[in-house]
Amino acid sequence: MRNTLVAGNWKLNGSKASIAELLKNILAGMADGRVKSNTEVAVCVPYIYIHQVQETLEGTAIAFGSESISEHDSGAFTGEISGPMLKDFACEYAIVGHSERRTIFGEKDADTANKFAAARKHGLKPILCVGELLEEREQGITETVVARQLDAVIDLEGVEALTDGVIAYEPVWAIGTGMTASPQQAQDVHAFIRGKIAALNADVADKVQILYGGSVNGGNADELFAMPDIDGGLIGGAALKAEDFLAICSAGK
Ligand code: 13P
Repeated sequence: MRNTLVAGNWKLNGSKASIAELLKNILAGMADGRVKSNTEVAVCVPYIYIHQVQETLEGTAIAFGSESISEHDSGAFTGEISGPMLKDFACEYAIVGHSERRTIFGEKDADTANKFAAARKHGLKPILCVGELLEEREQGITETVVARQLDAVIDLEGVEALTDGVIAYEPVWAIGTGMTASPQQAQDVHAFIRGKIAALNADVADKVQILYGGSVNGGNADELFAMPDIDGGLIGGAALKAEDFLAICSAGK
C-alpha cells in the first residue's frame, strides 16, 4: 500500500517571519497527532528560504525541498541552483516541470526531463508535474498531453526511474482558480497515468505515488484522496495557512 504524501508548494510567497510562524504552527498541529502515521508531509519552498527551513525542520517529521532545480551541476549558469547545492542543505524533494515553469518560463518537456534526471542523480526525489491546459481538455487531448509529458522522462531515464520520484497531476485550469477537478475527473487521469506506467512495468505502477494538485483545500481533500489512484496532493495556496494545510494533511486514506 502506498503512503499518502501531502506536499506544499509555496511558490513566490513568504518572509522569514511568516515562514517561522507557519512552520511553528504546522509542527504544533502534527505534534497533536492530527496527521495519520501513513501520511508523509513535505514543503517545497523558495530557494532563499531553504536554509531557514532546514534549520527548523531537519530531524522533524516534515521533509523539505525546492520548487525547481538546474539541470546543470555547476558552471556558468547565472541565477541557477543545482542538485549538489540542494543536497548541501539537506533537501529531499525538488519539484520539476510545474506548469508555471512550463507556461511562464518556457520550460519544455525535454528541460523537465533533464531536471528530473539532475534531481535523481543527486539523490533528490523529483516531484514531476504533468497536466493539461483548459483548451487541451476542451479539445479532448488531456491524455495525449499527459502521456507526452511523462514520455519525455521515461524516454530519458527509463520507467524504473519513476520510483525514485513522485508524479503530480495538476490540471492547469484548476491551479489557483478554485476550480478543483472533481474526484472522478482527477481519478480518471490518475488511472490513465498508472495504467500507462503499468503497461511498461506493473511493479513501478504499483509503487509510484501520484498526487493531485489544483485548488485542494480542507473541504475537498478527503474526497479526492479517497480515490484509489490519488495518493495525496501538491498544495499551493492552502499550504500557506497552517490550519488549512493541517486539515489537508489529516485527510489521507
Ligand atoms: P493551488 O493549490 O493554489 O491551486 O496550486 C496548486 C499548485 O500549483 C501546486 O503546485
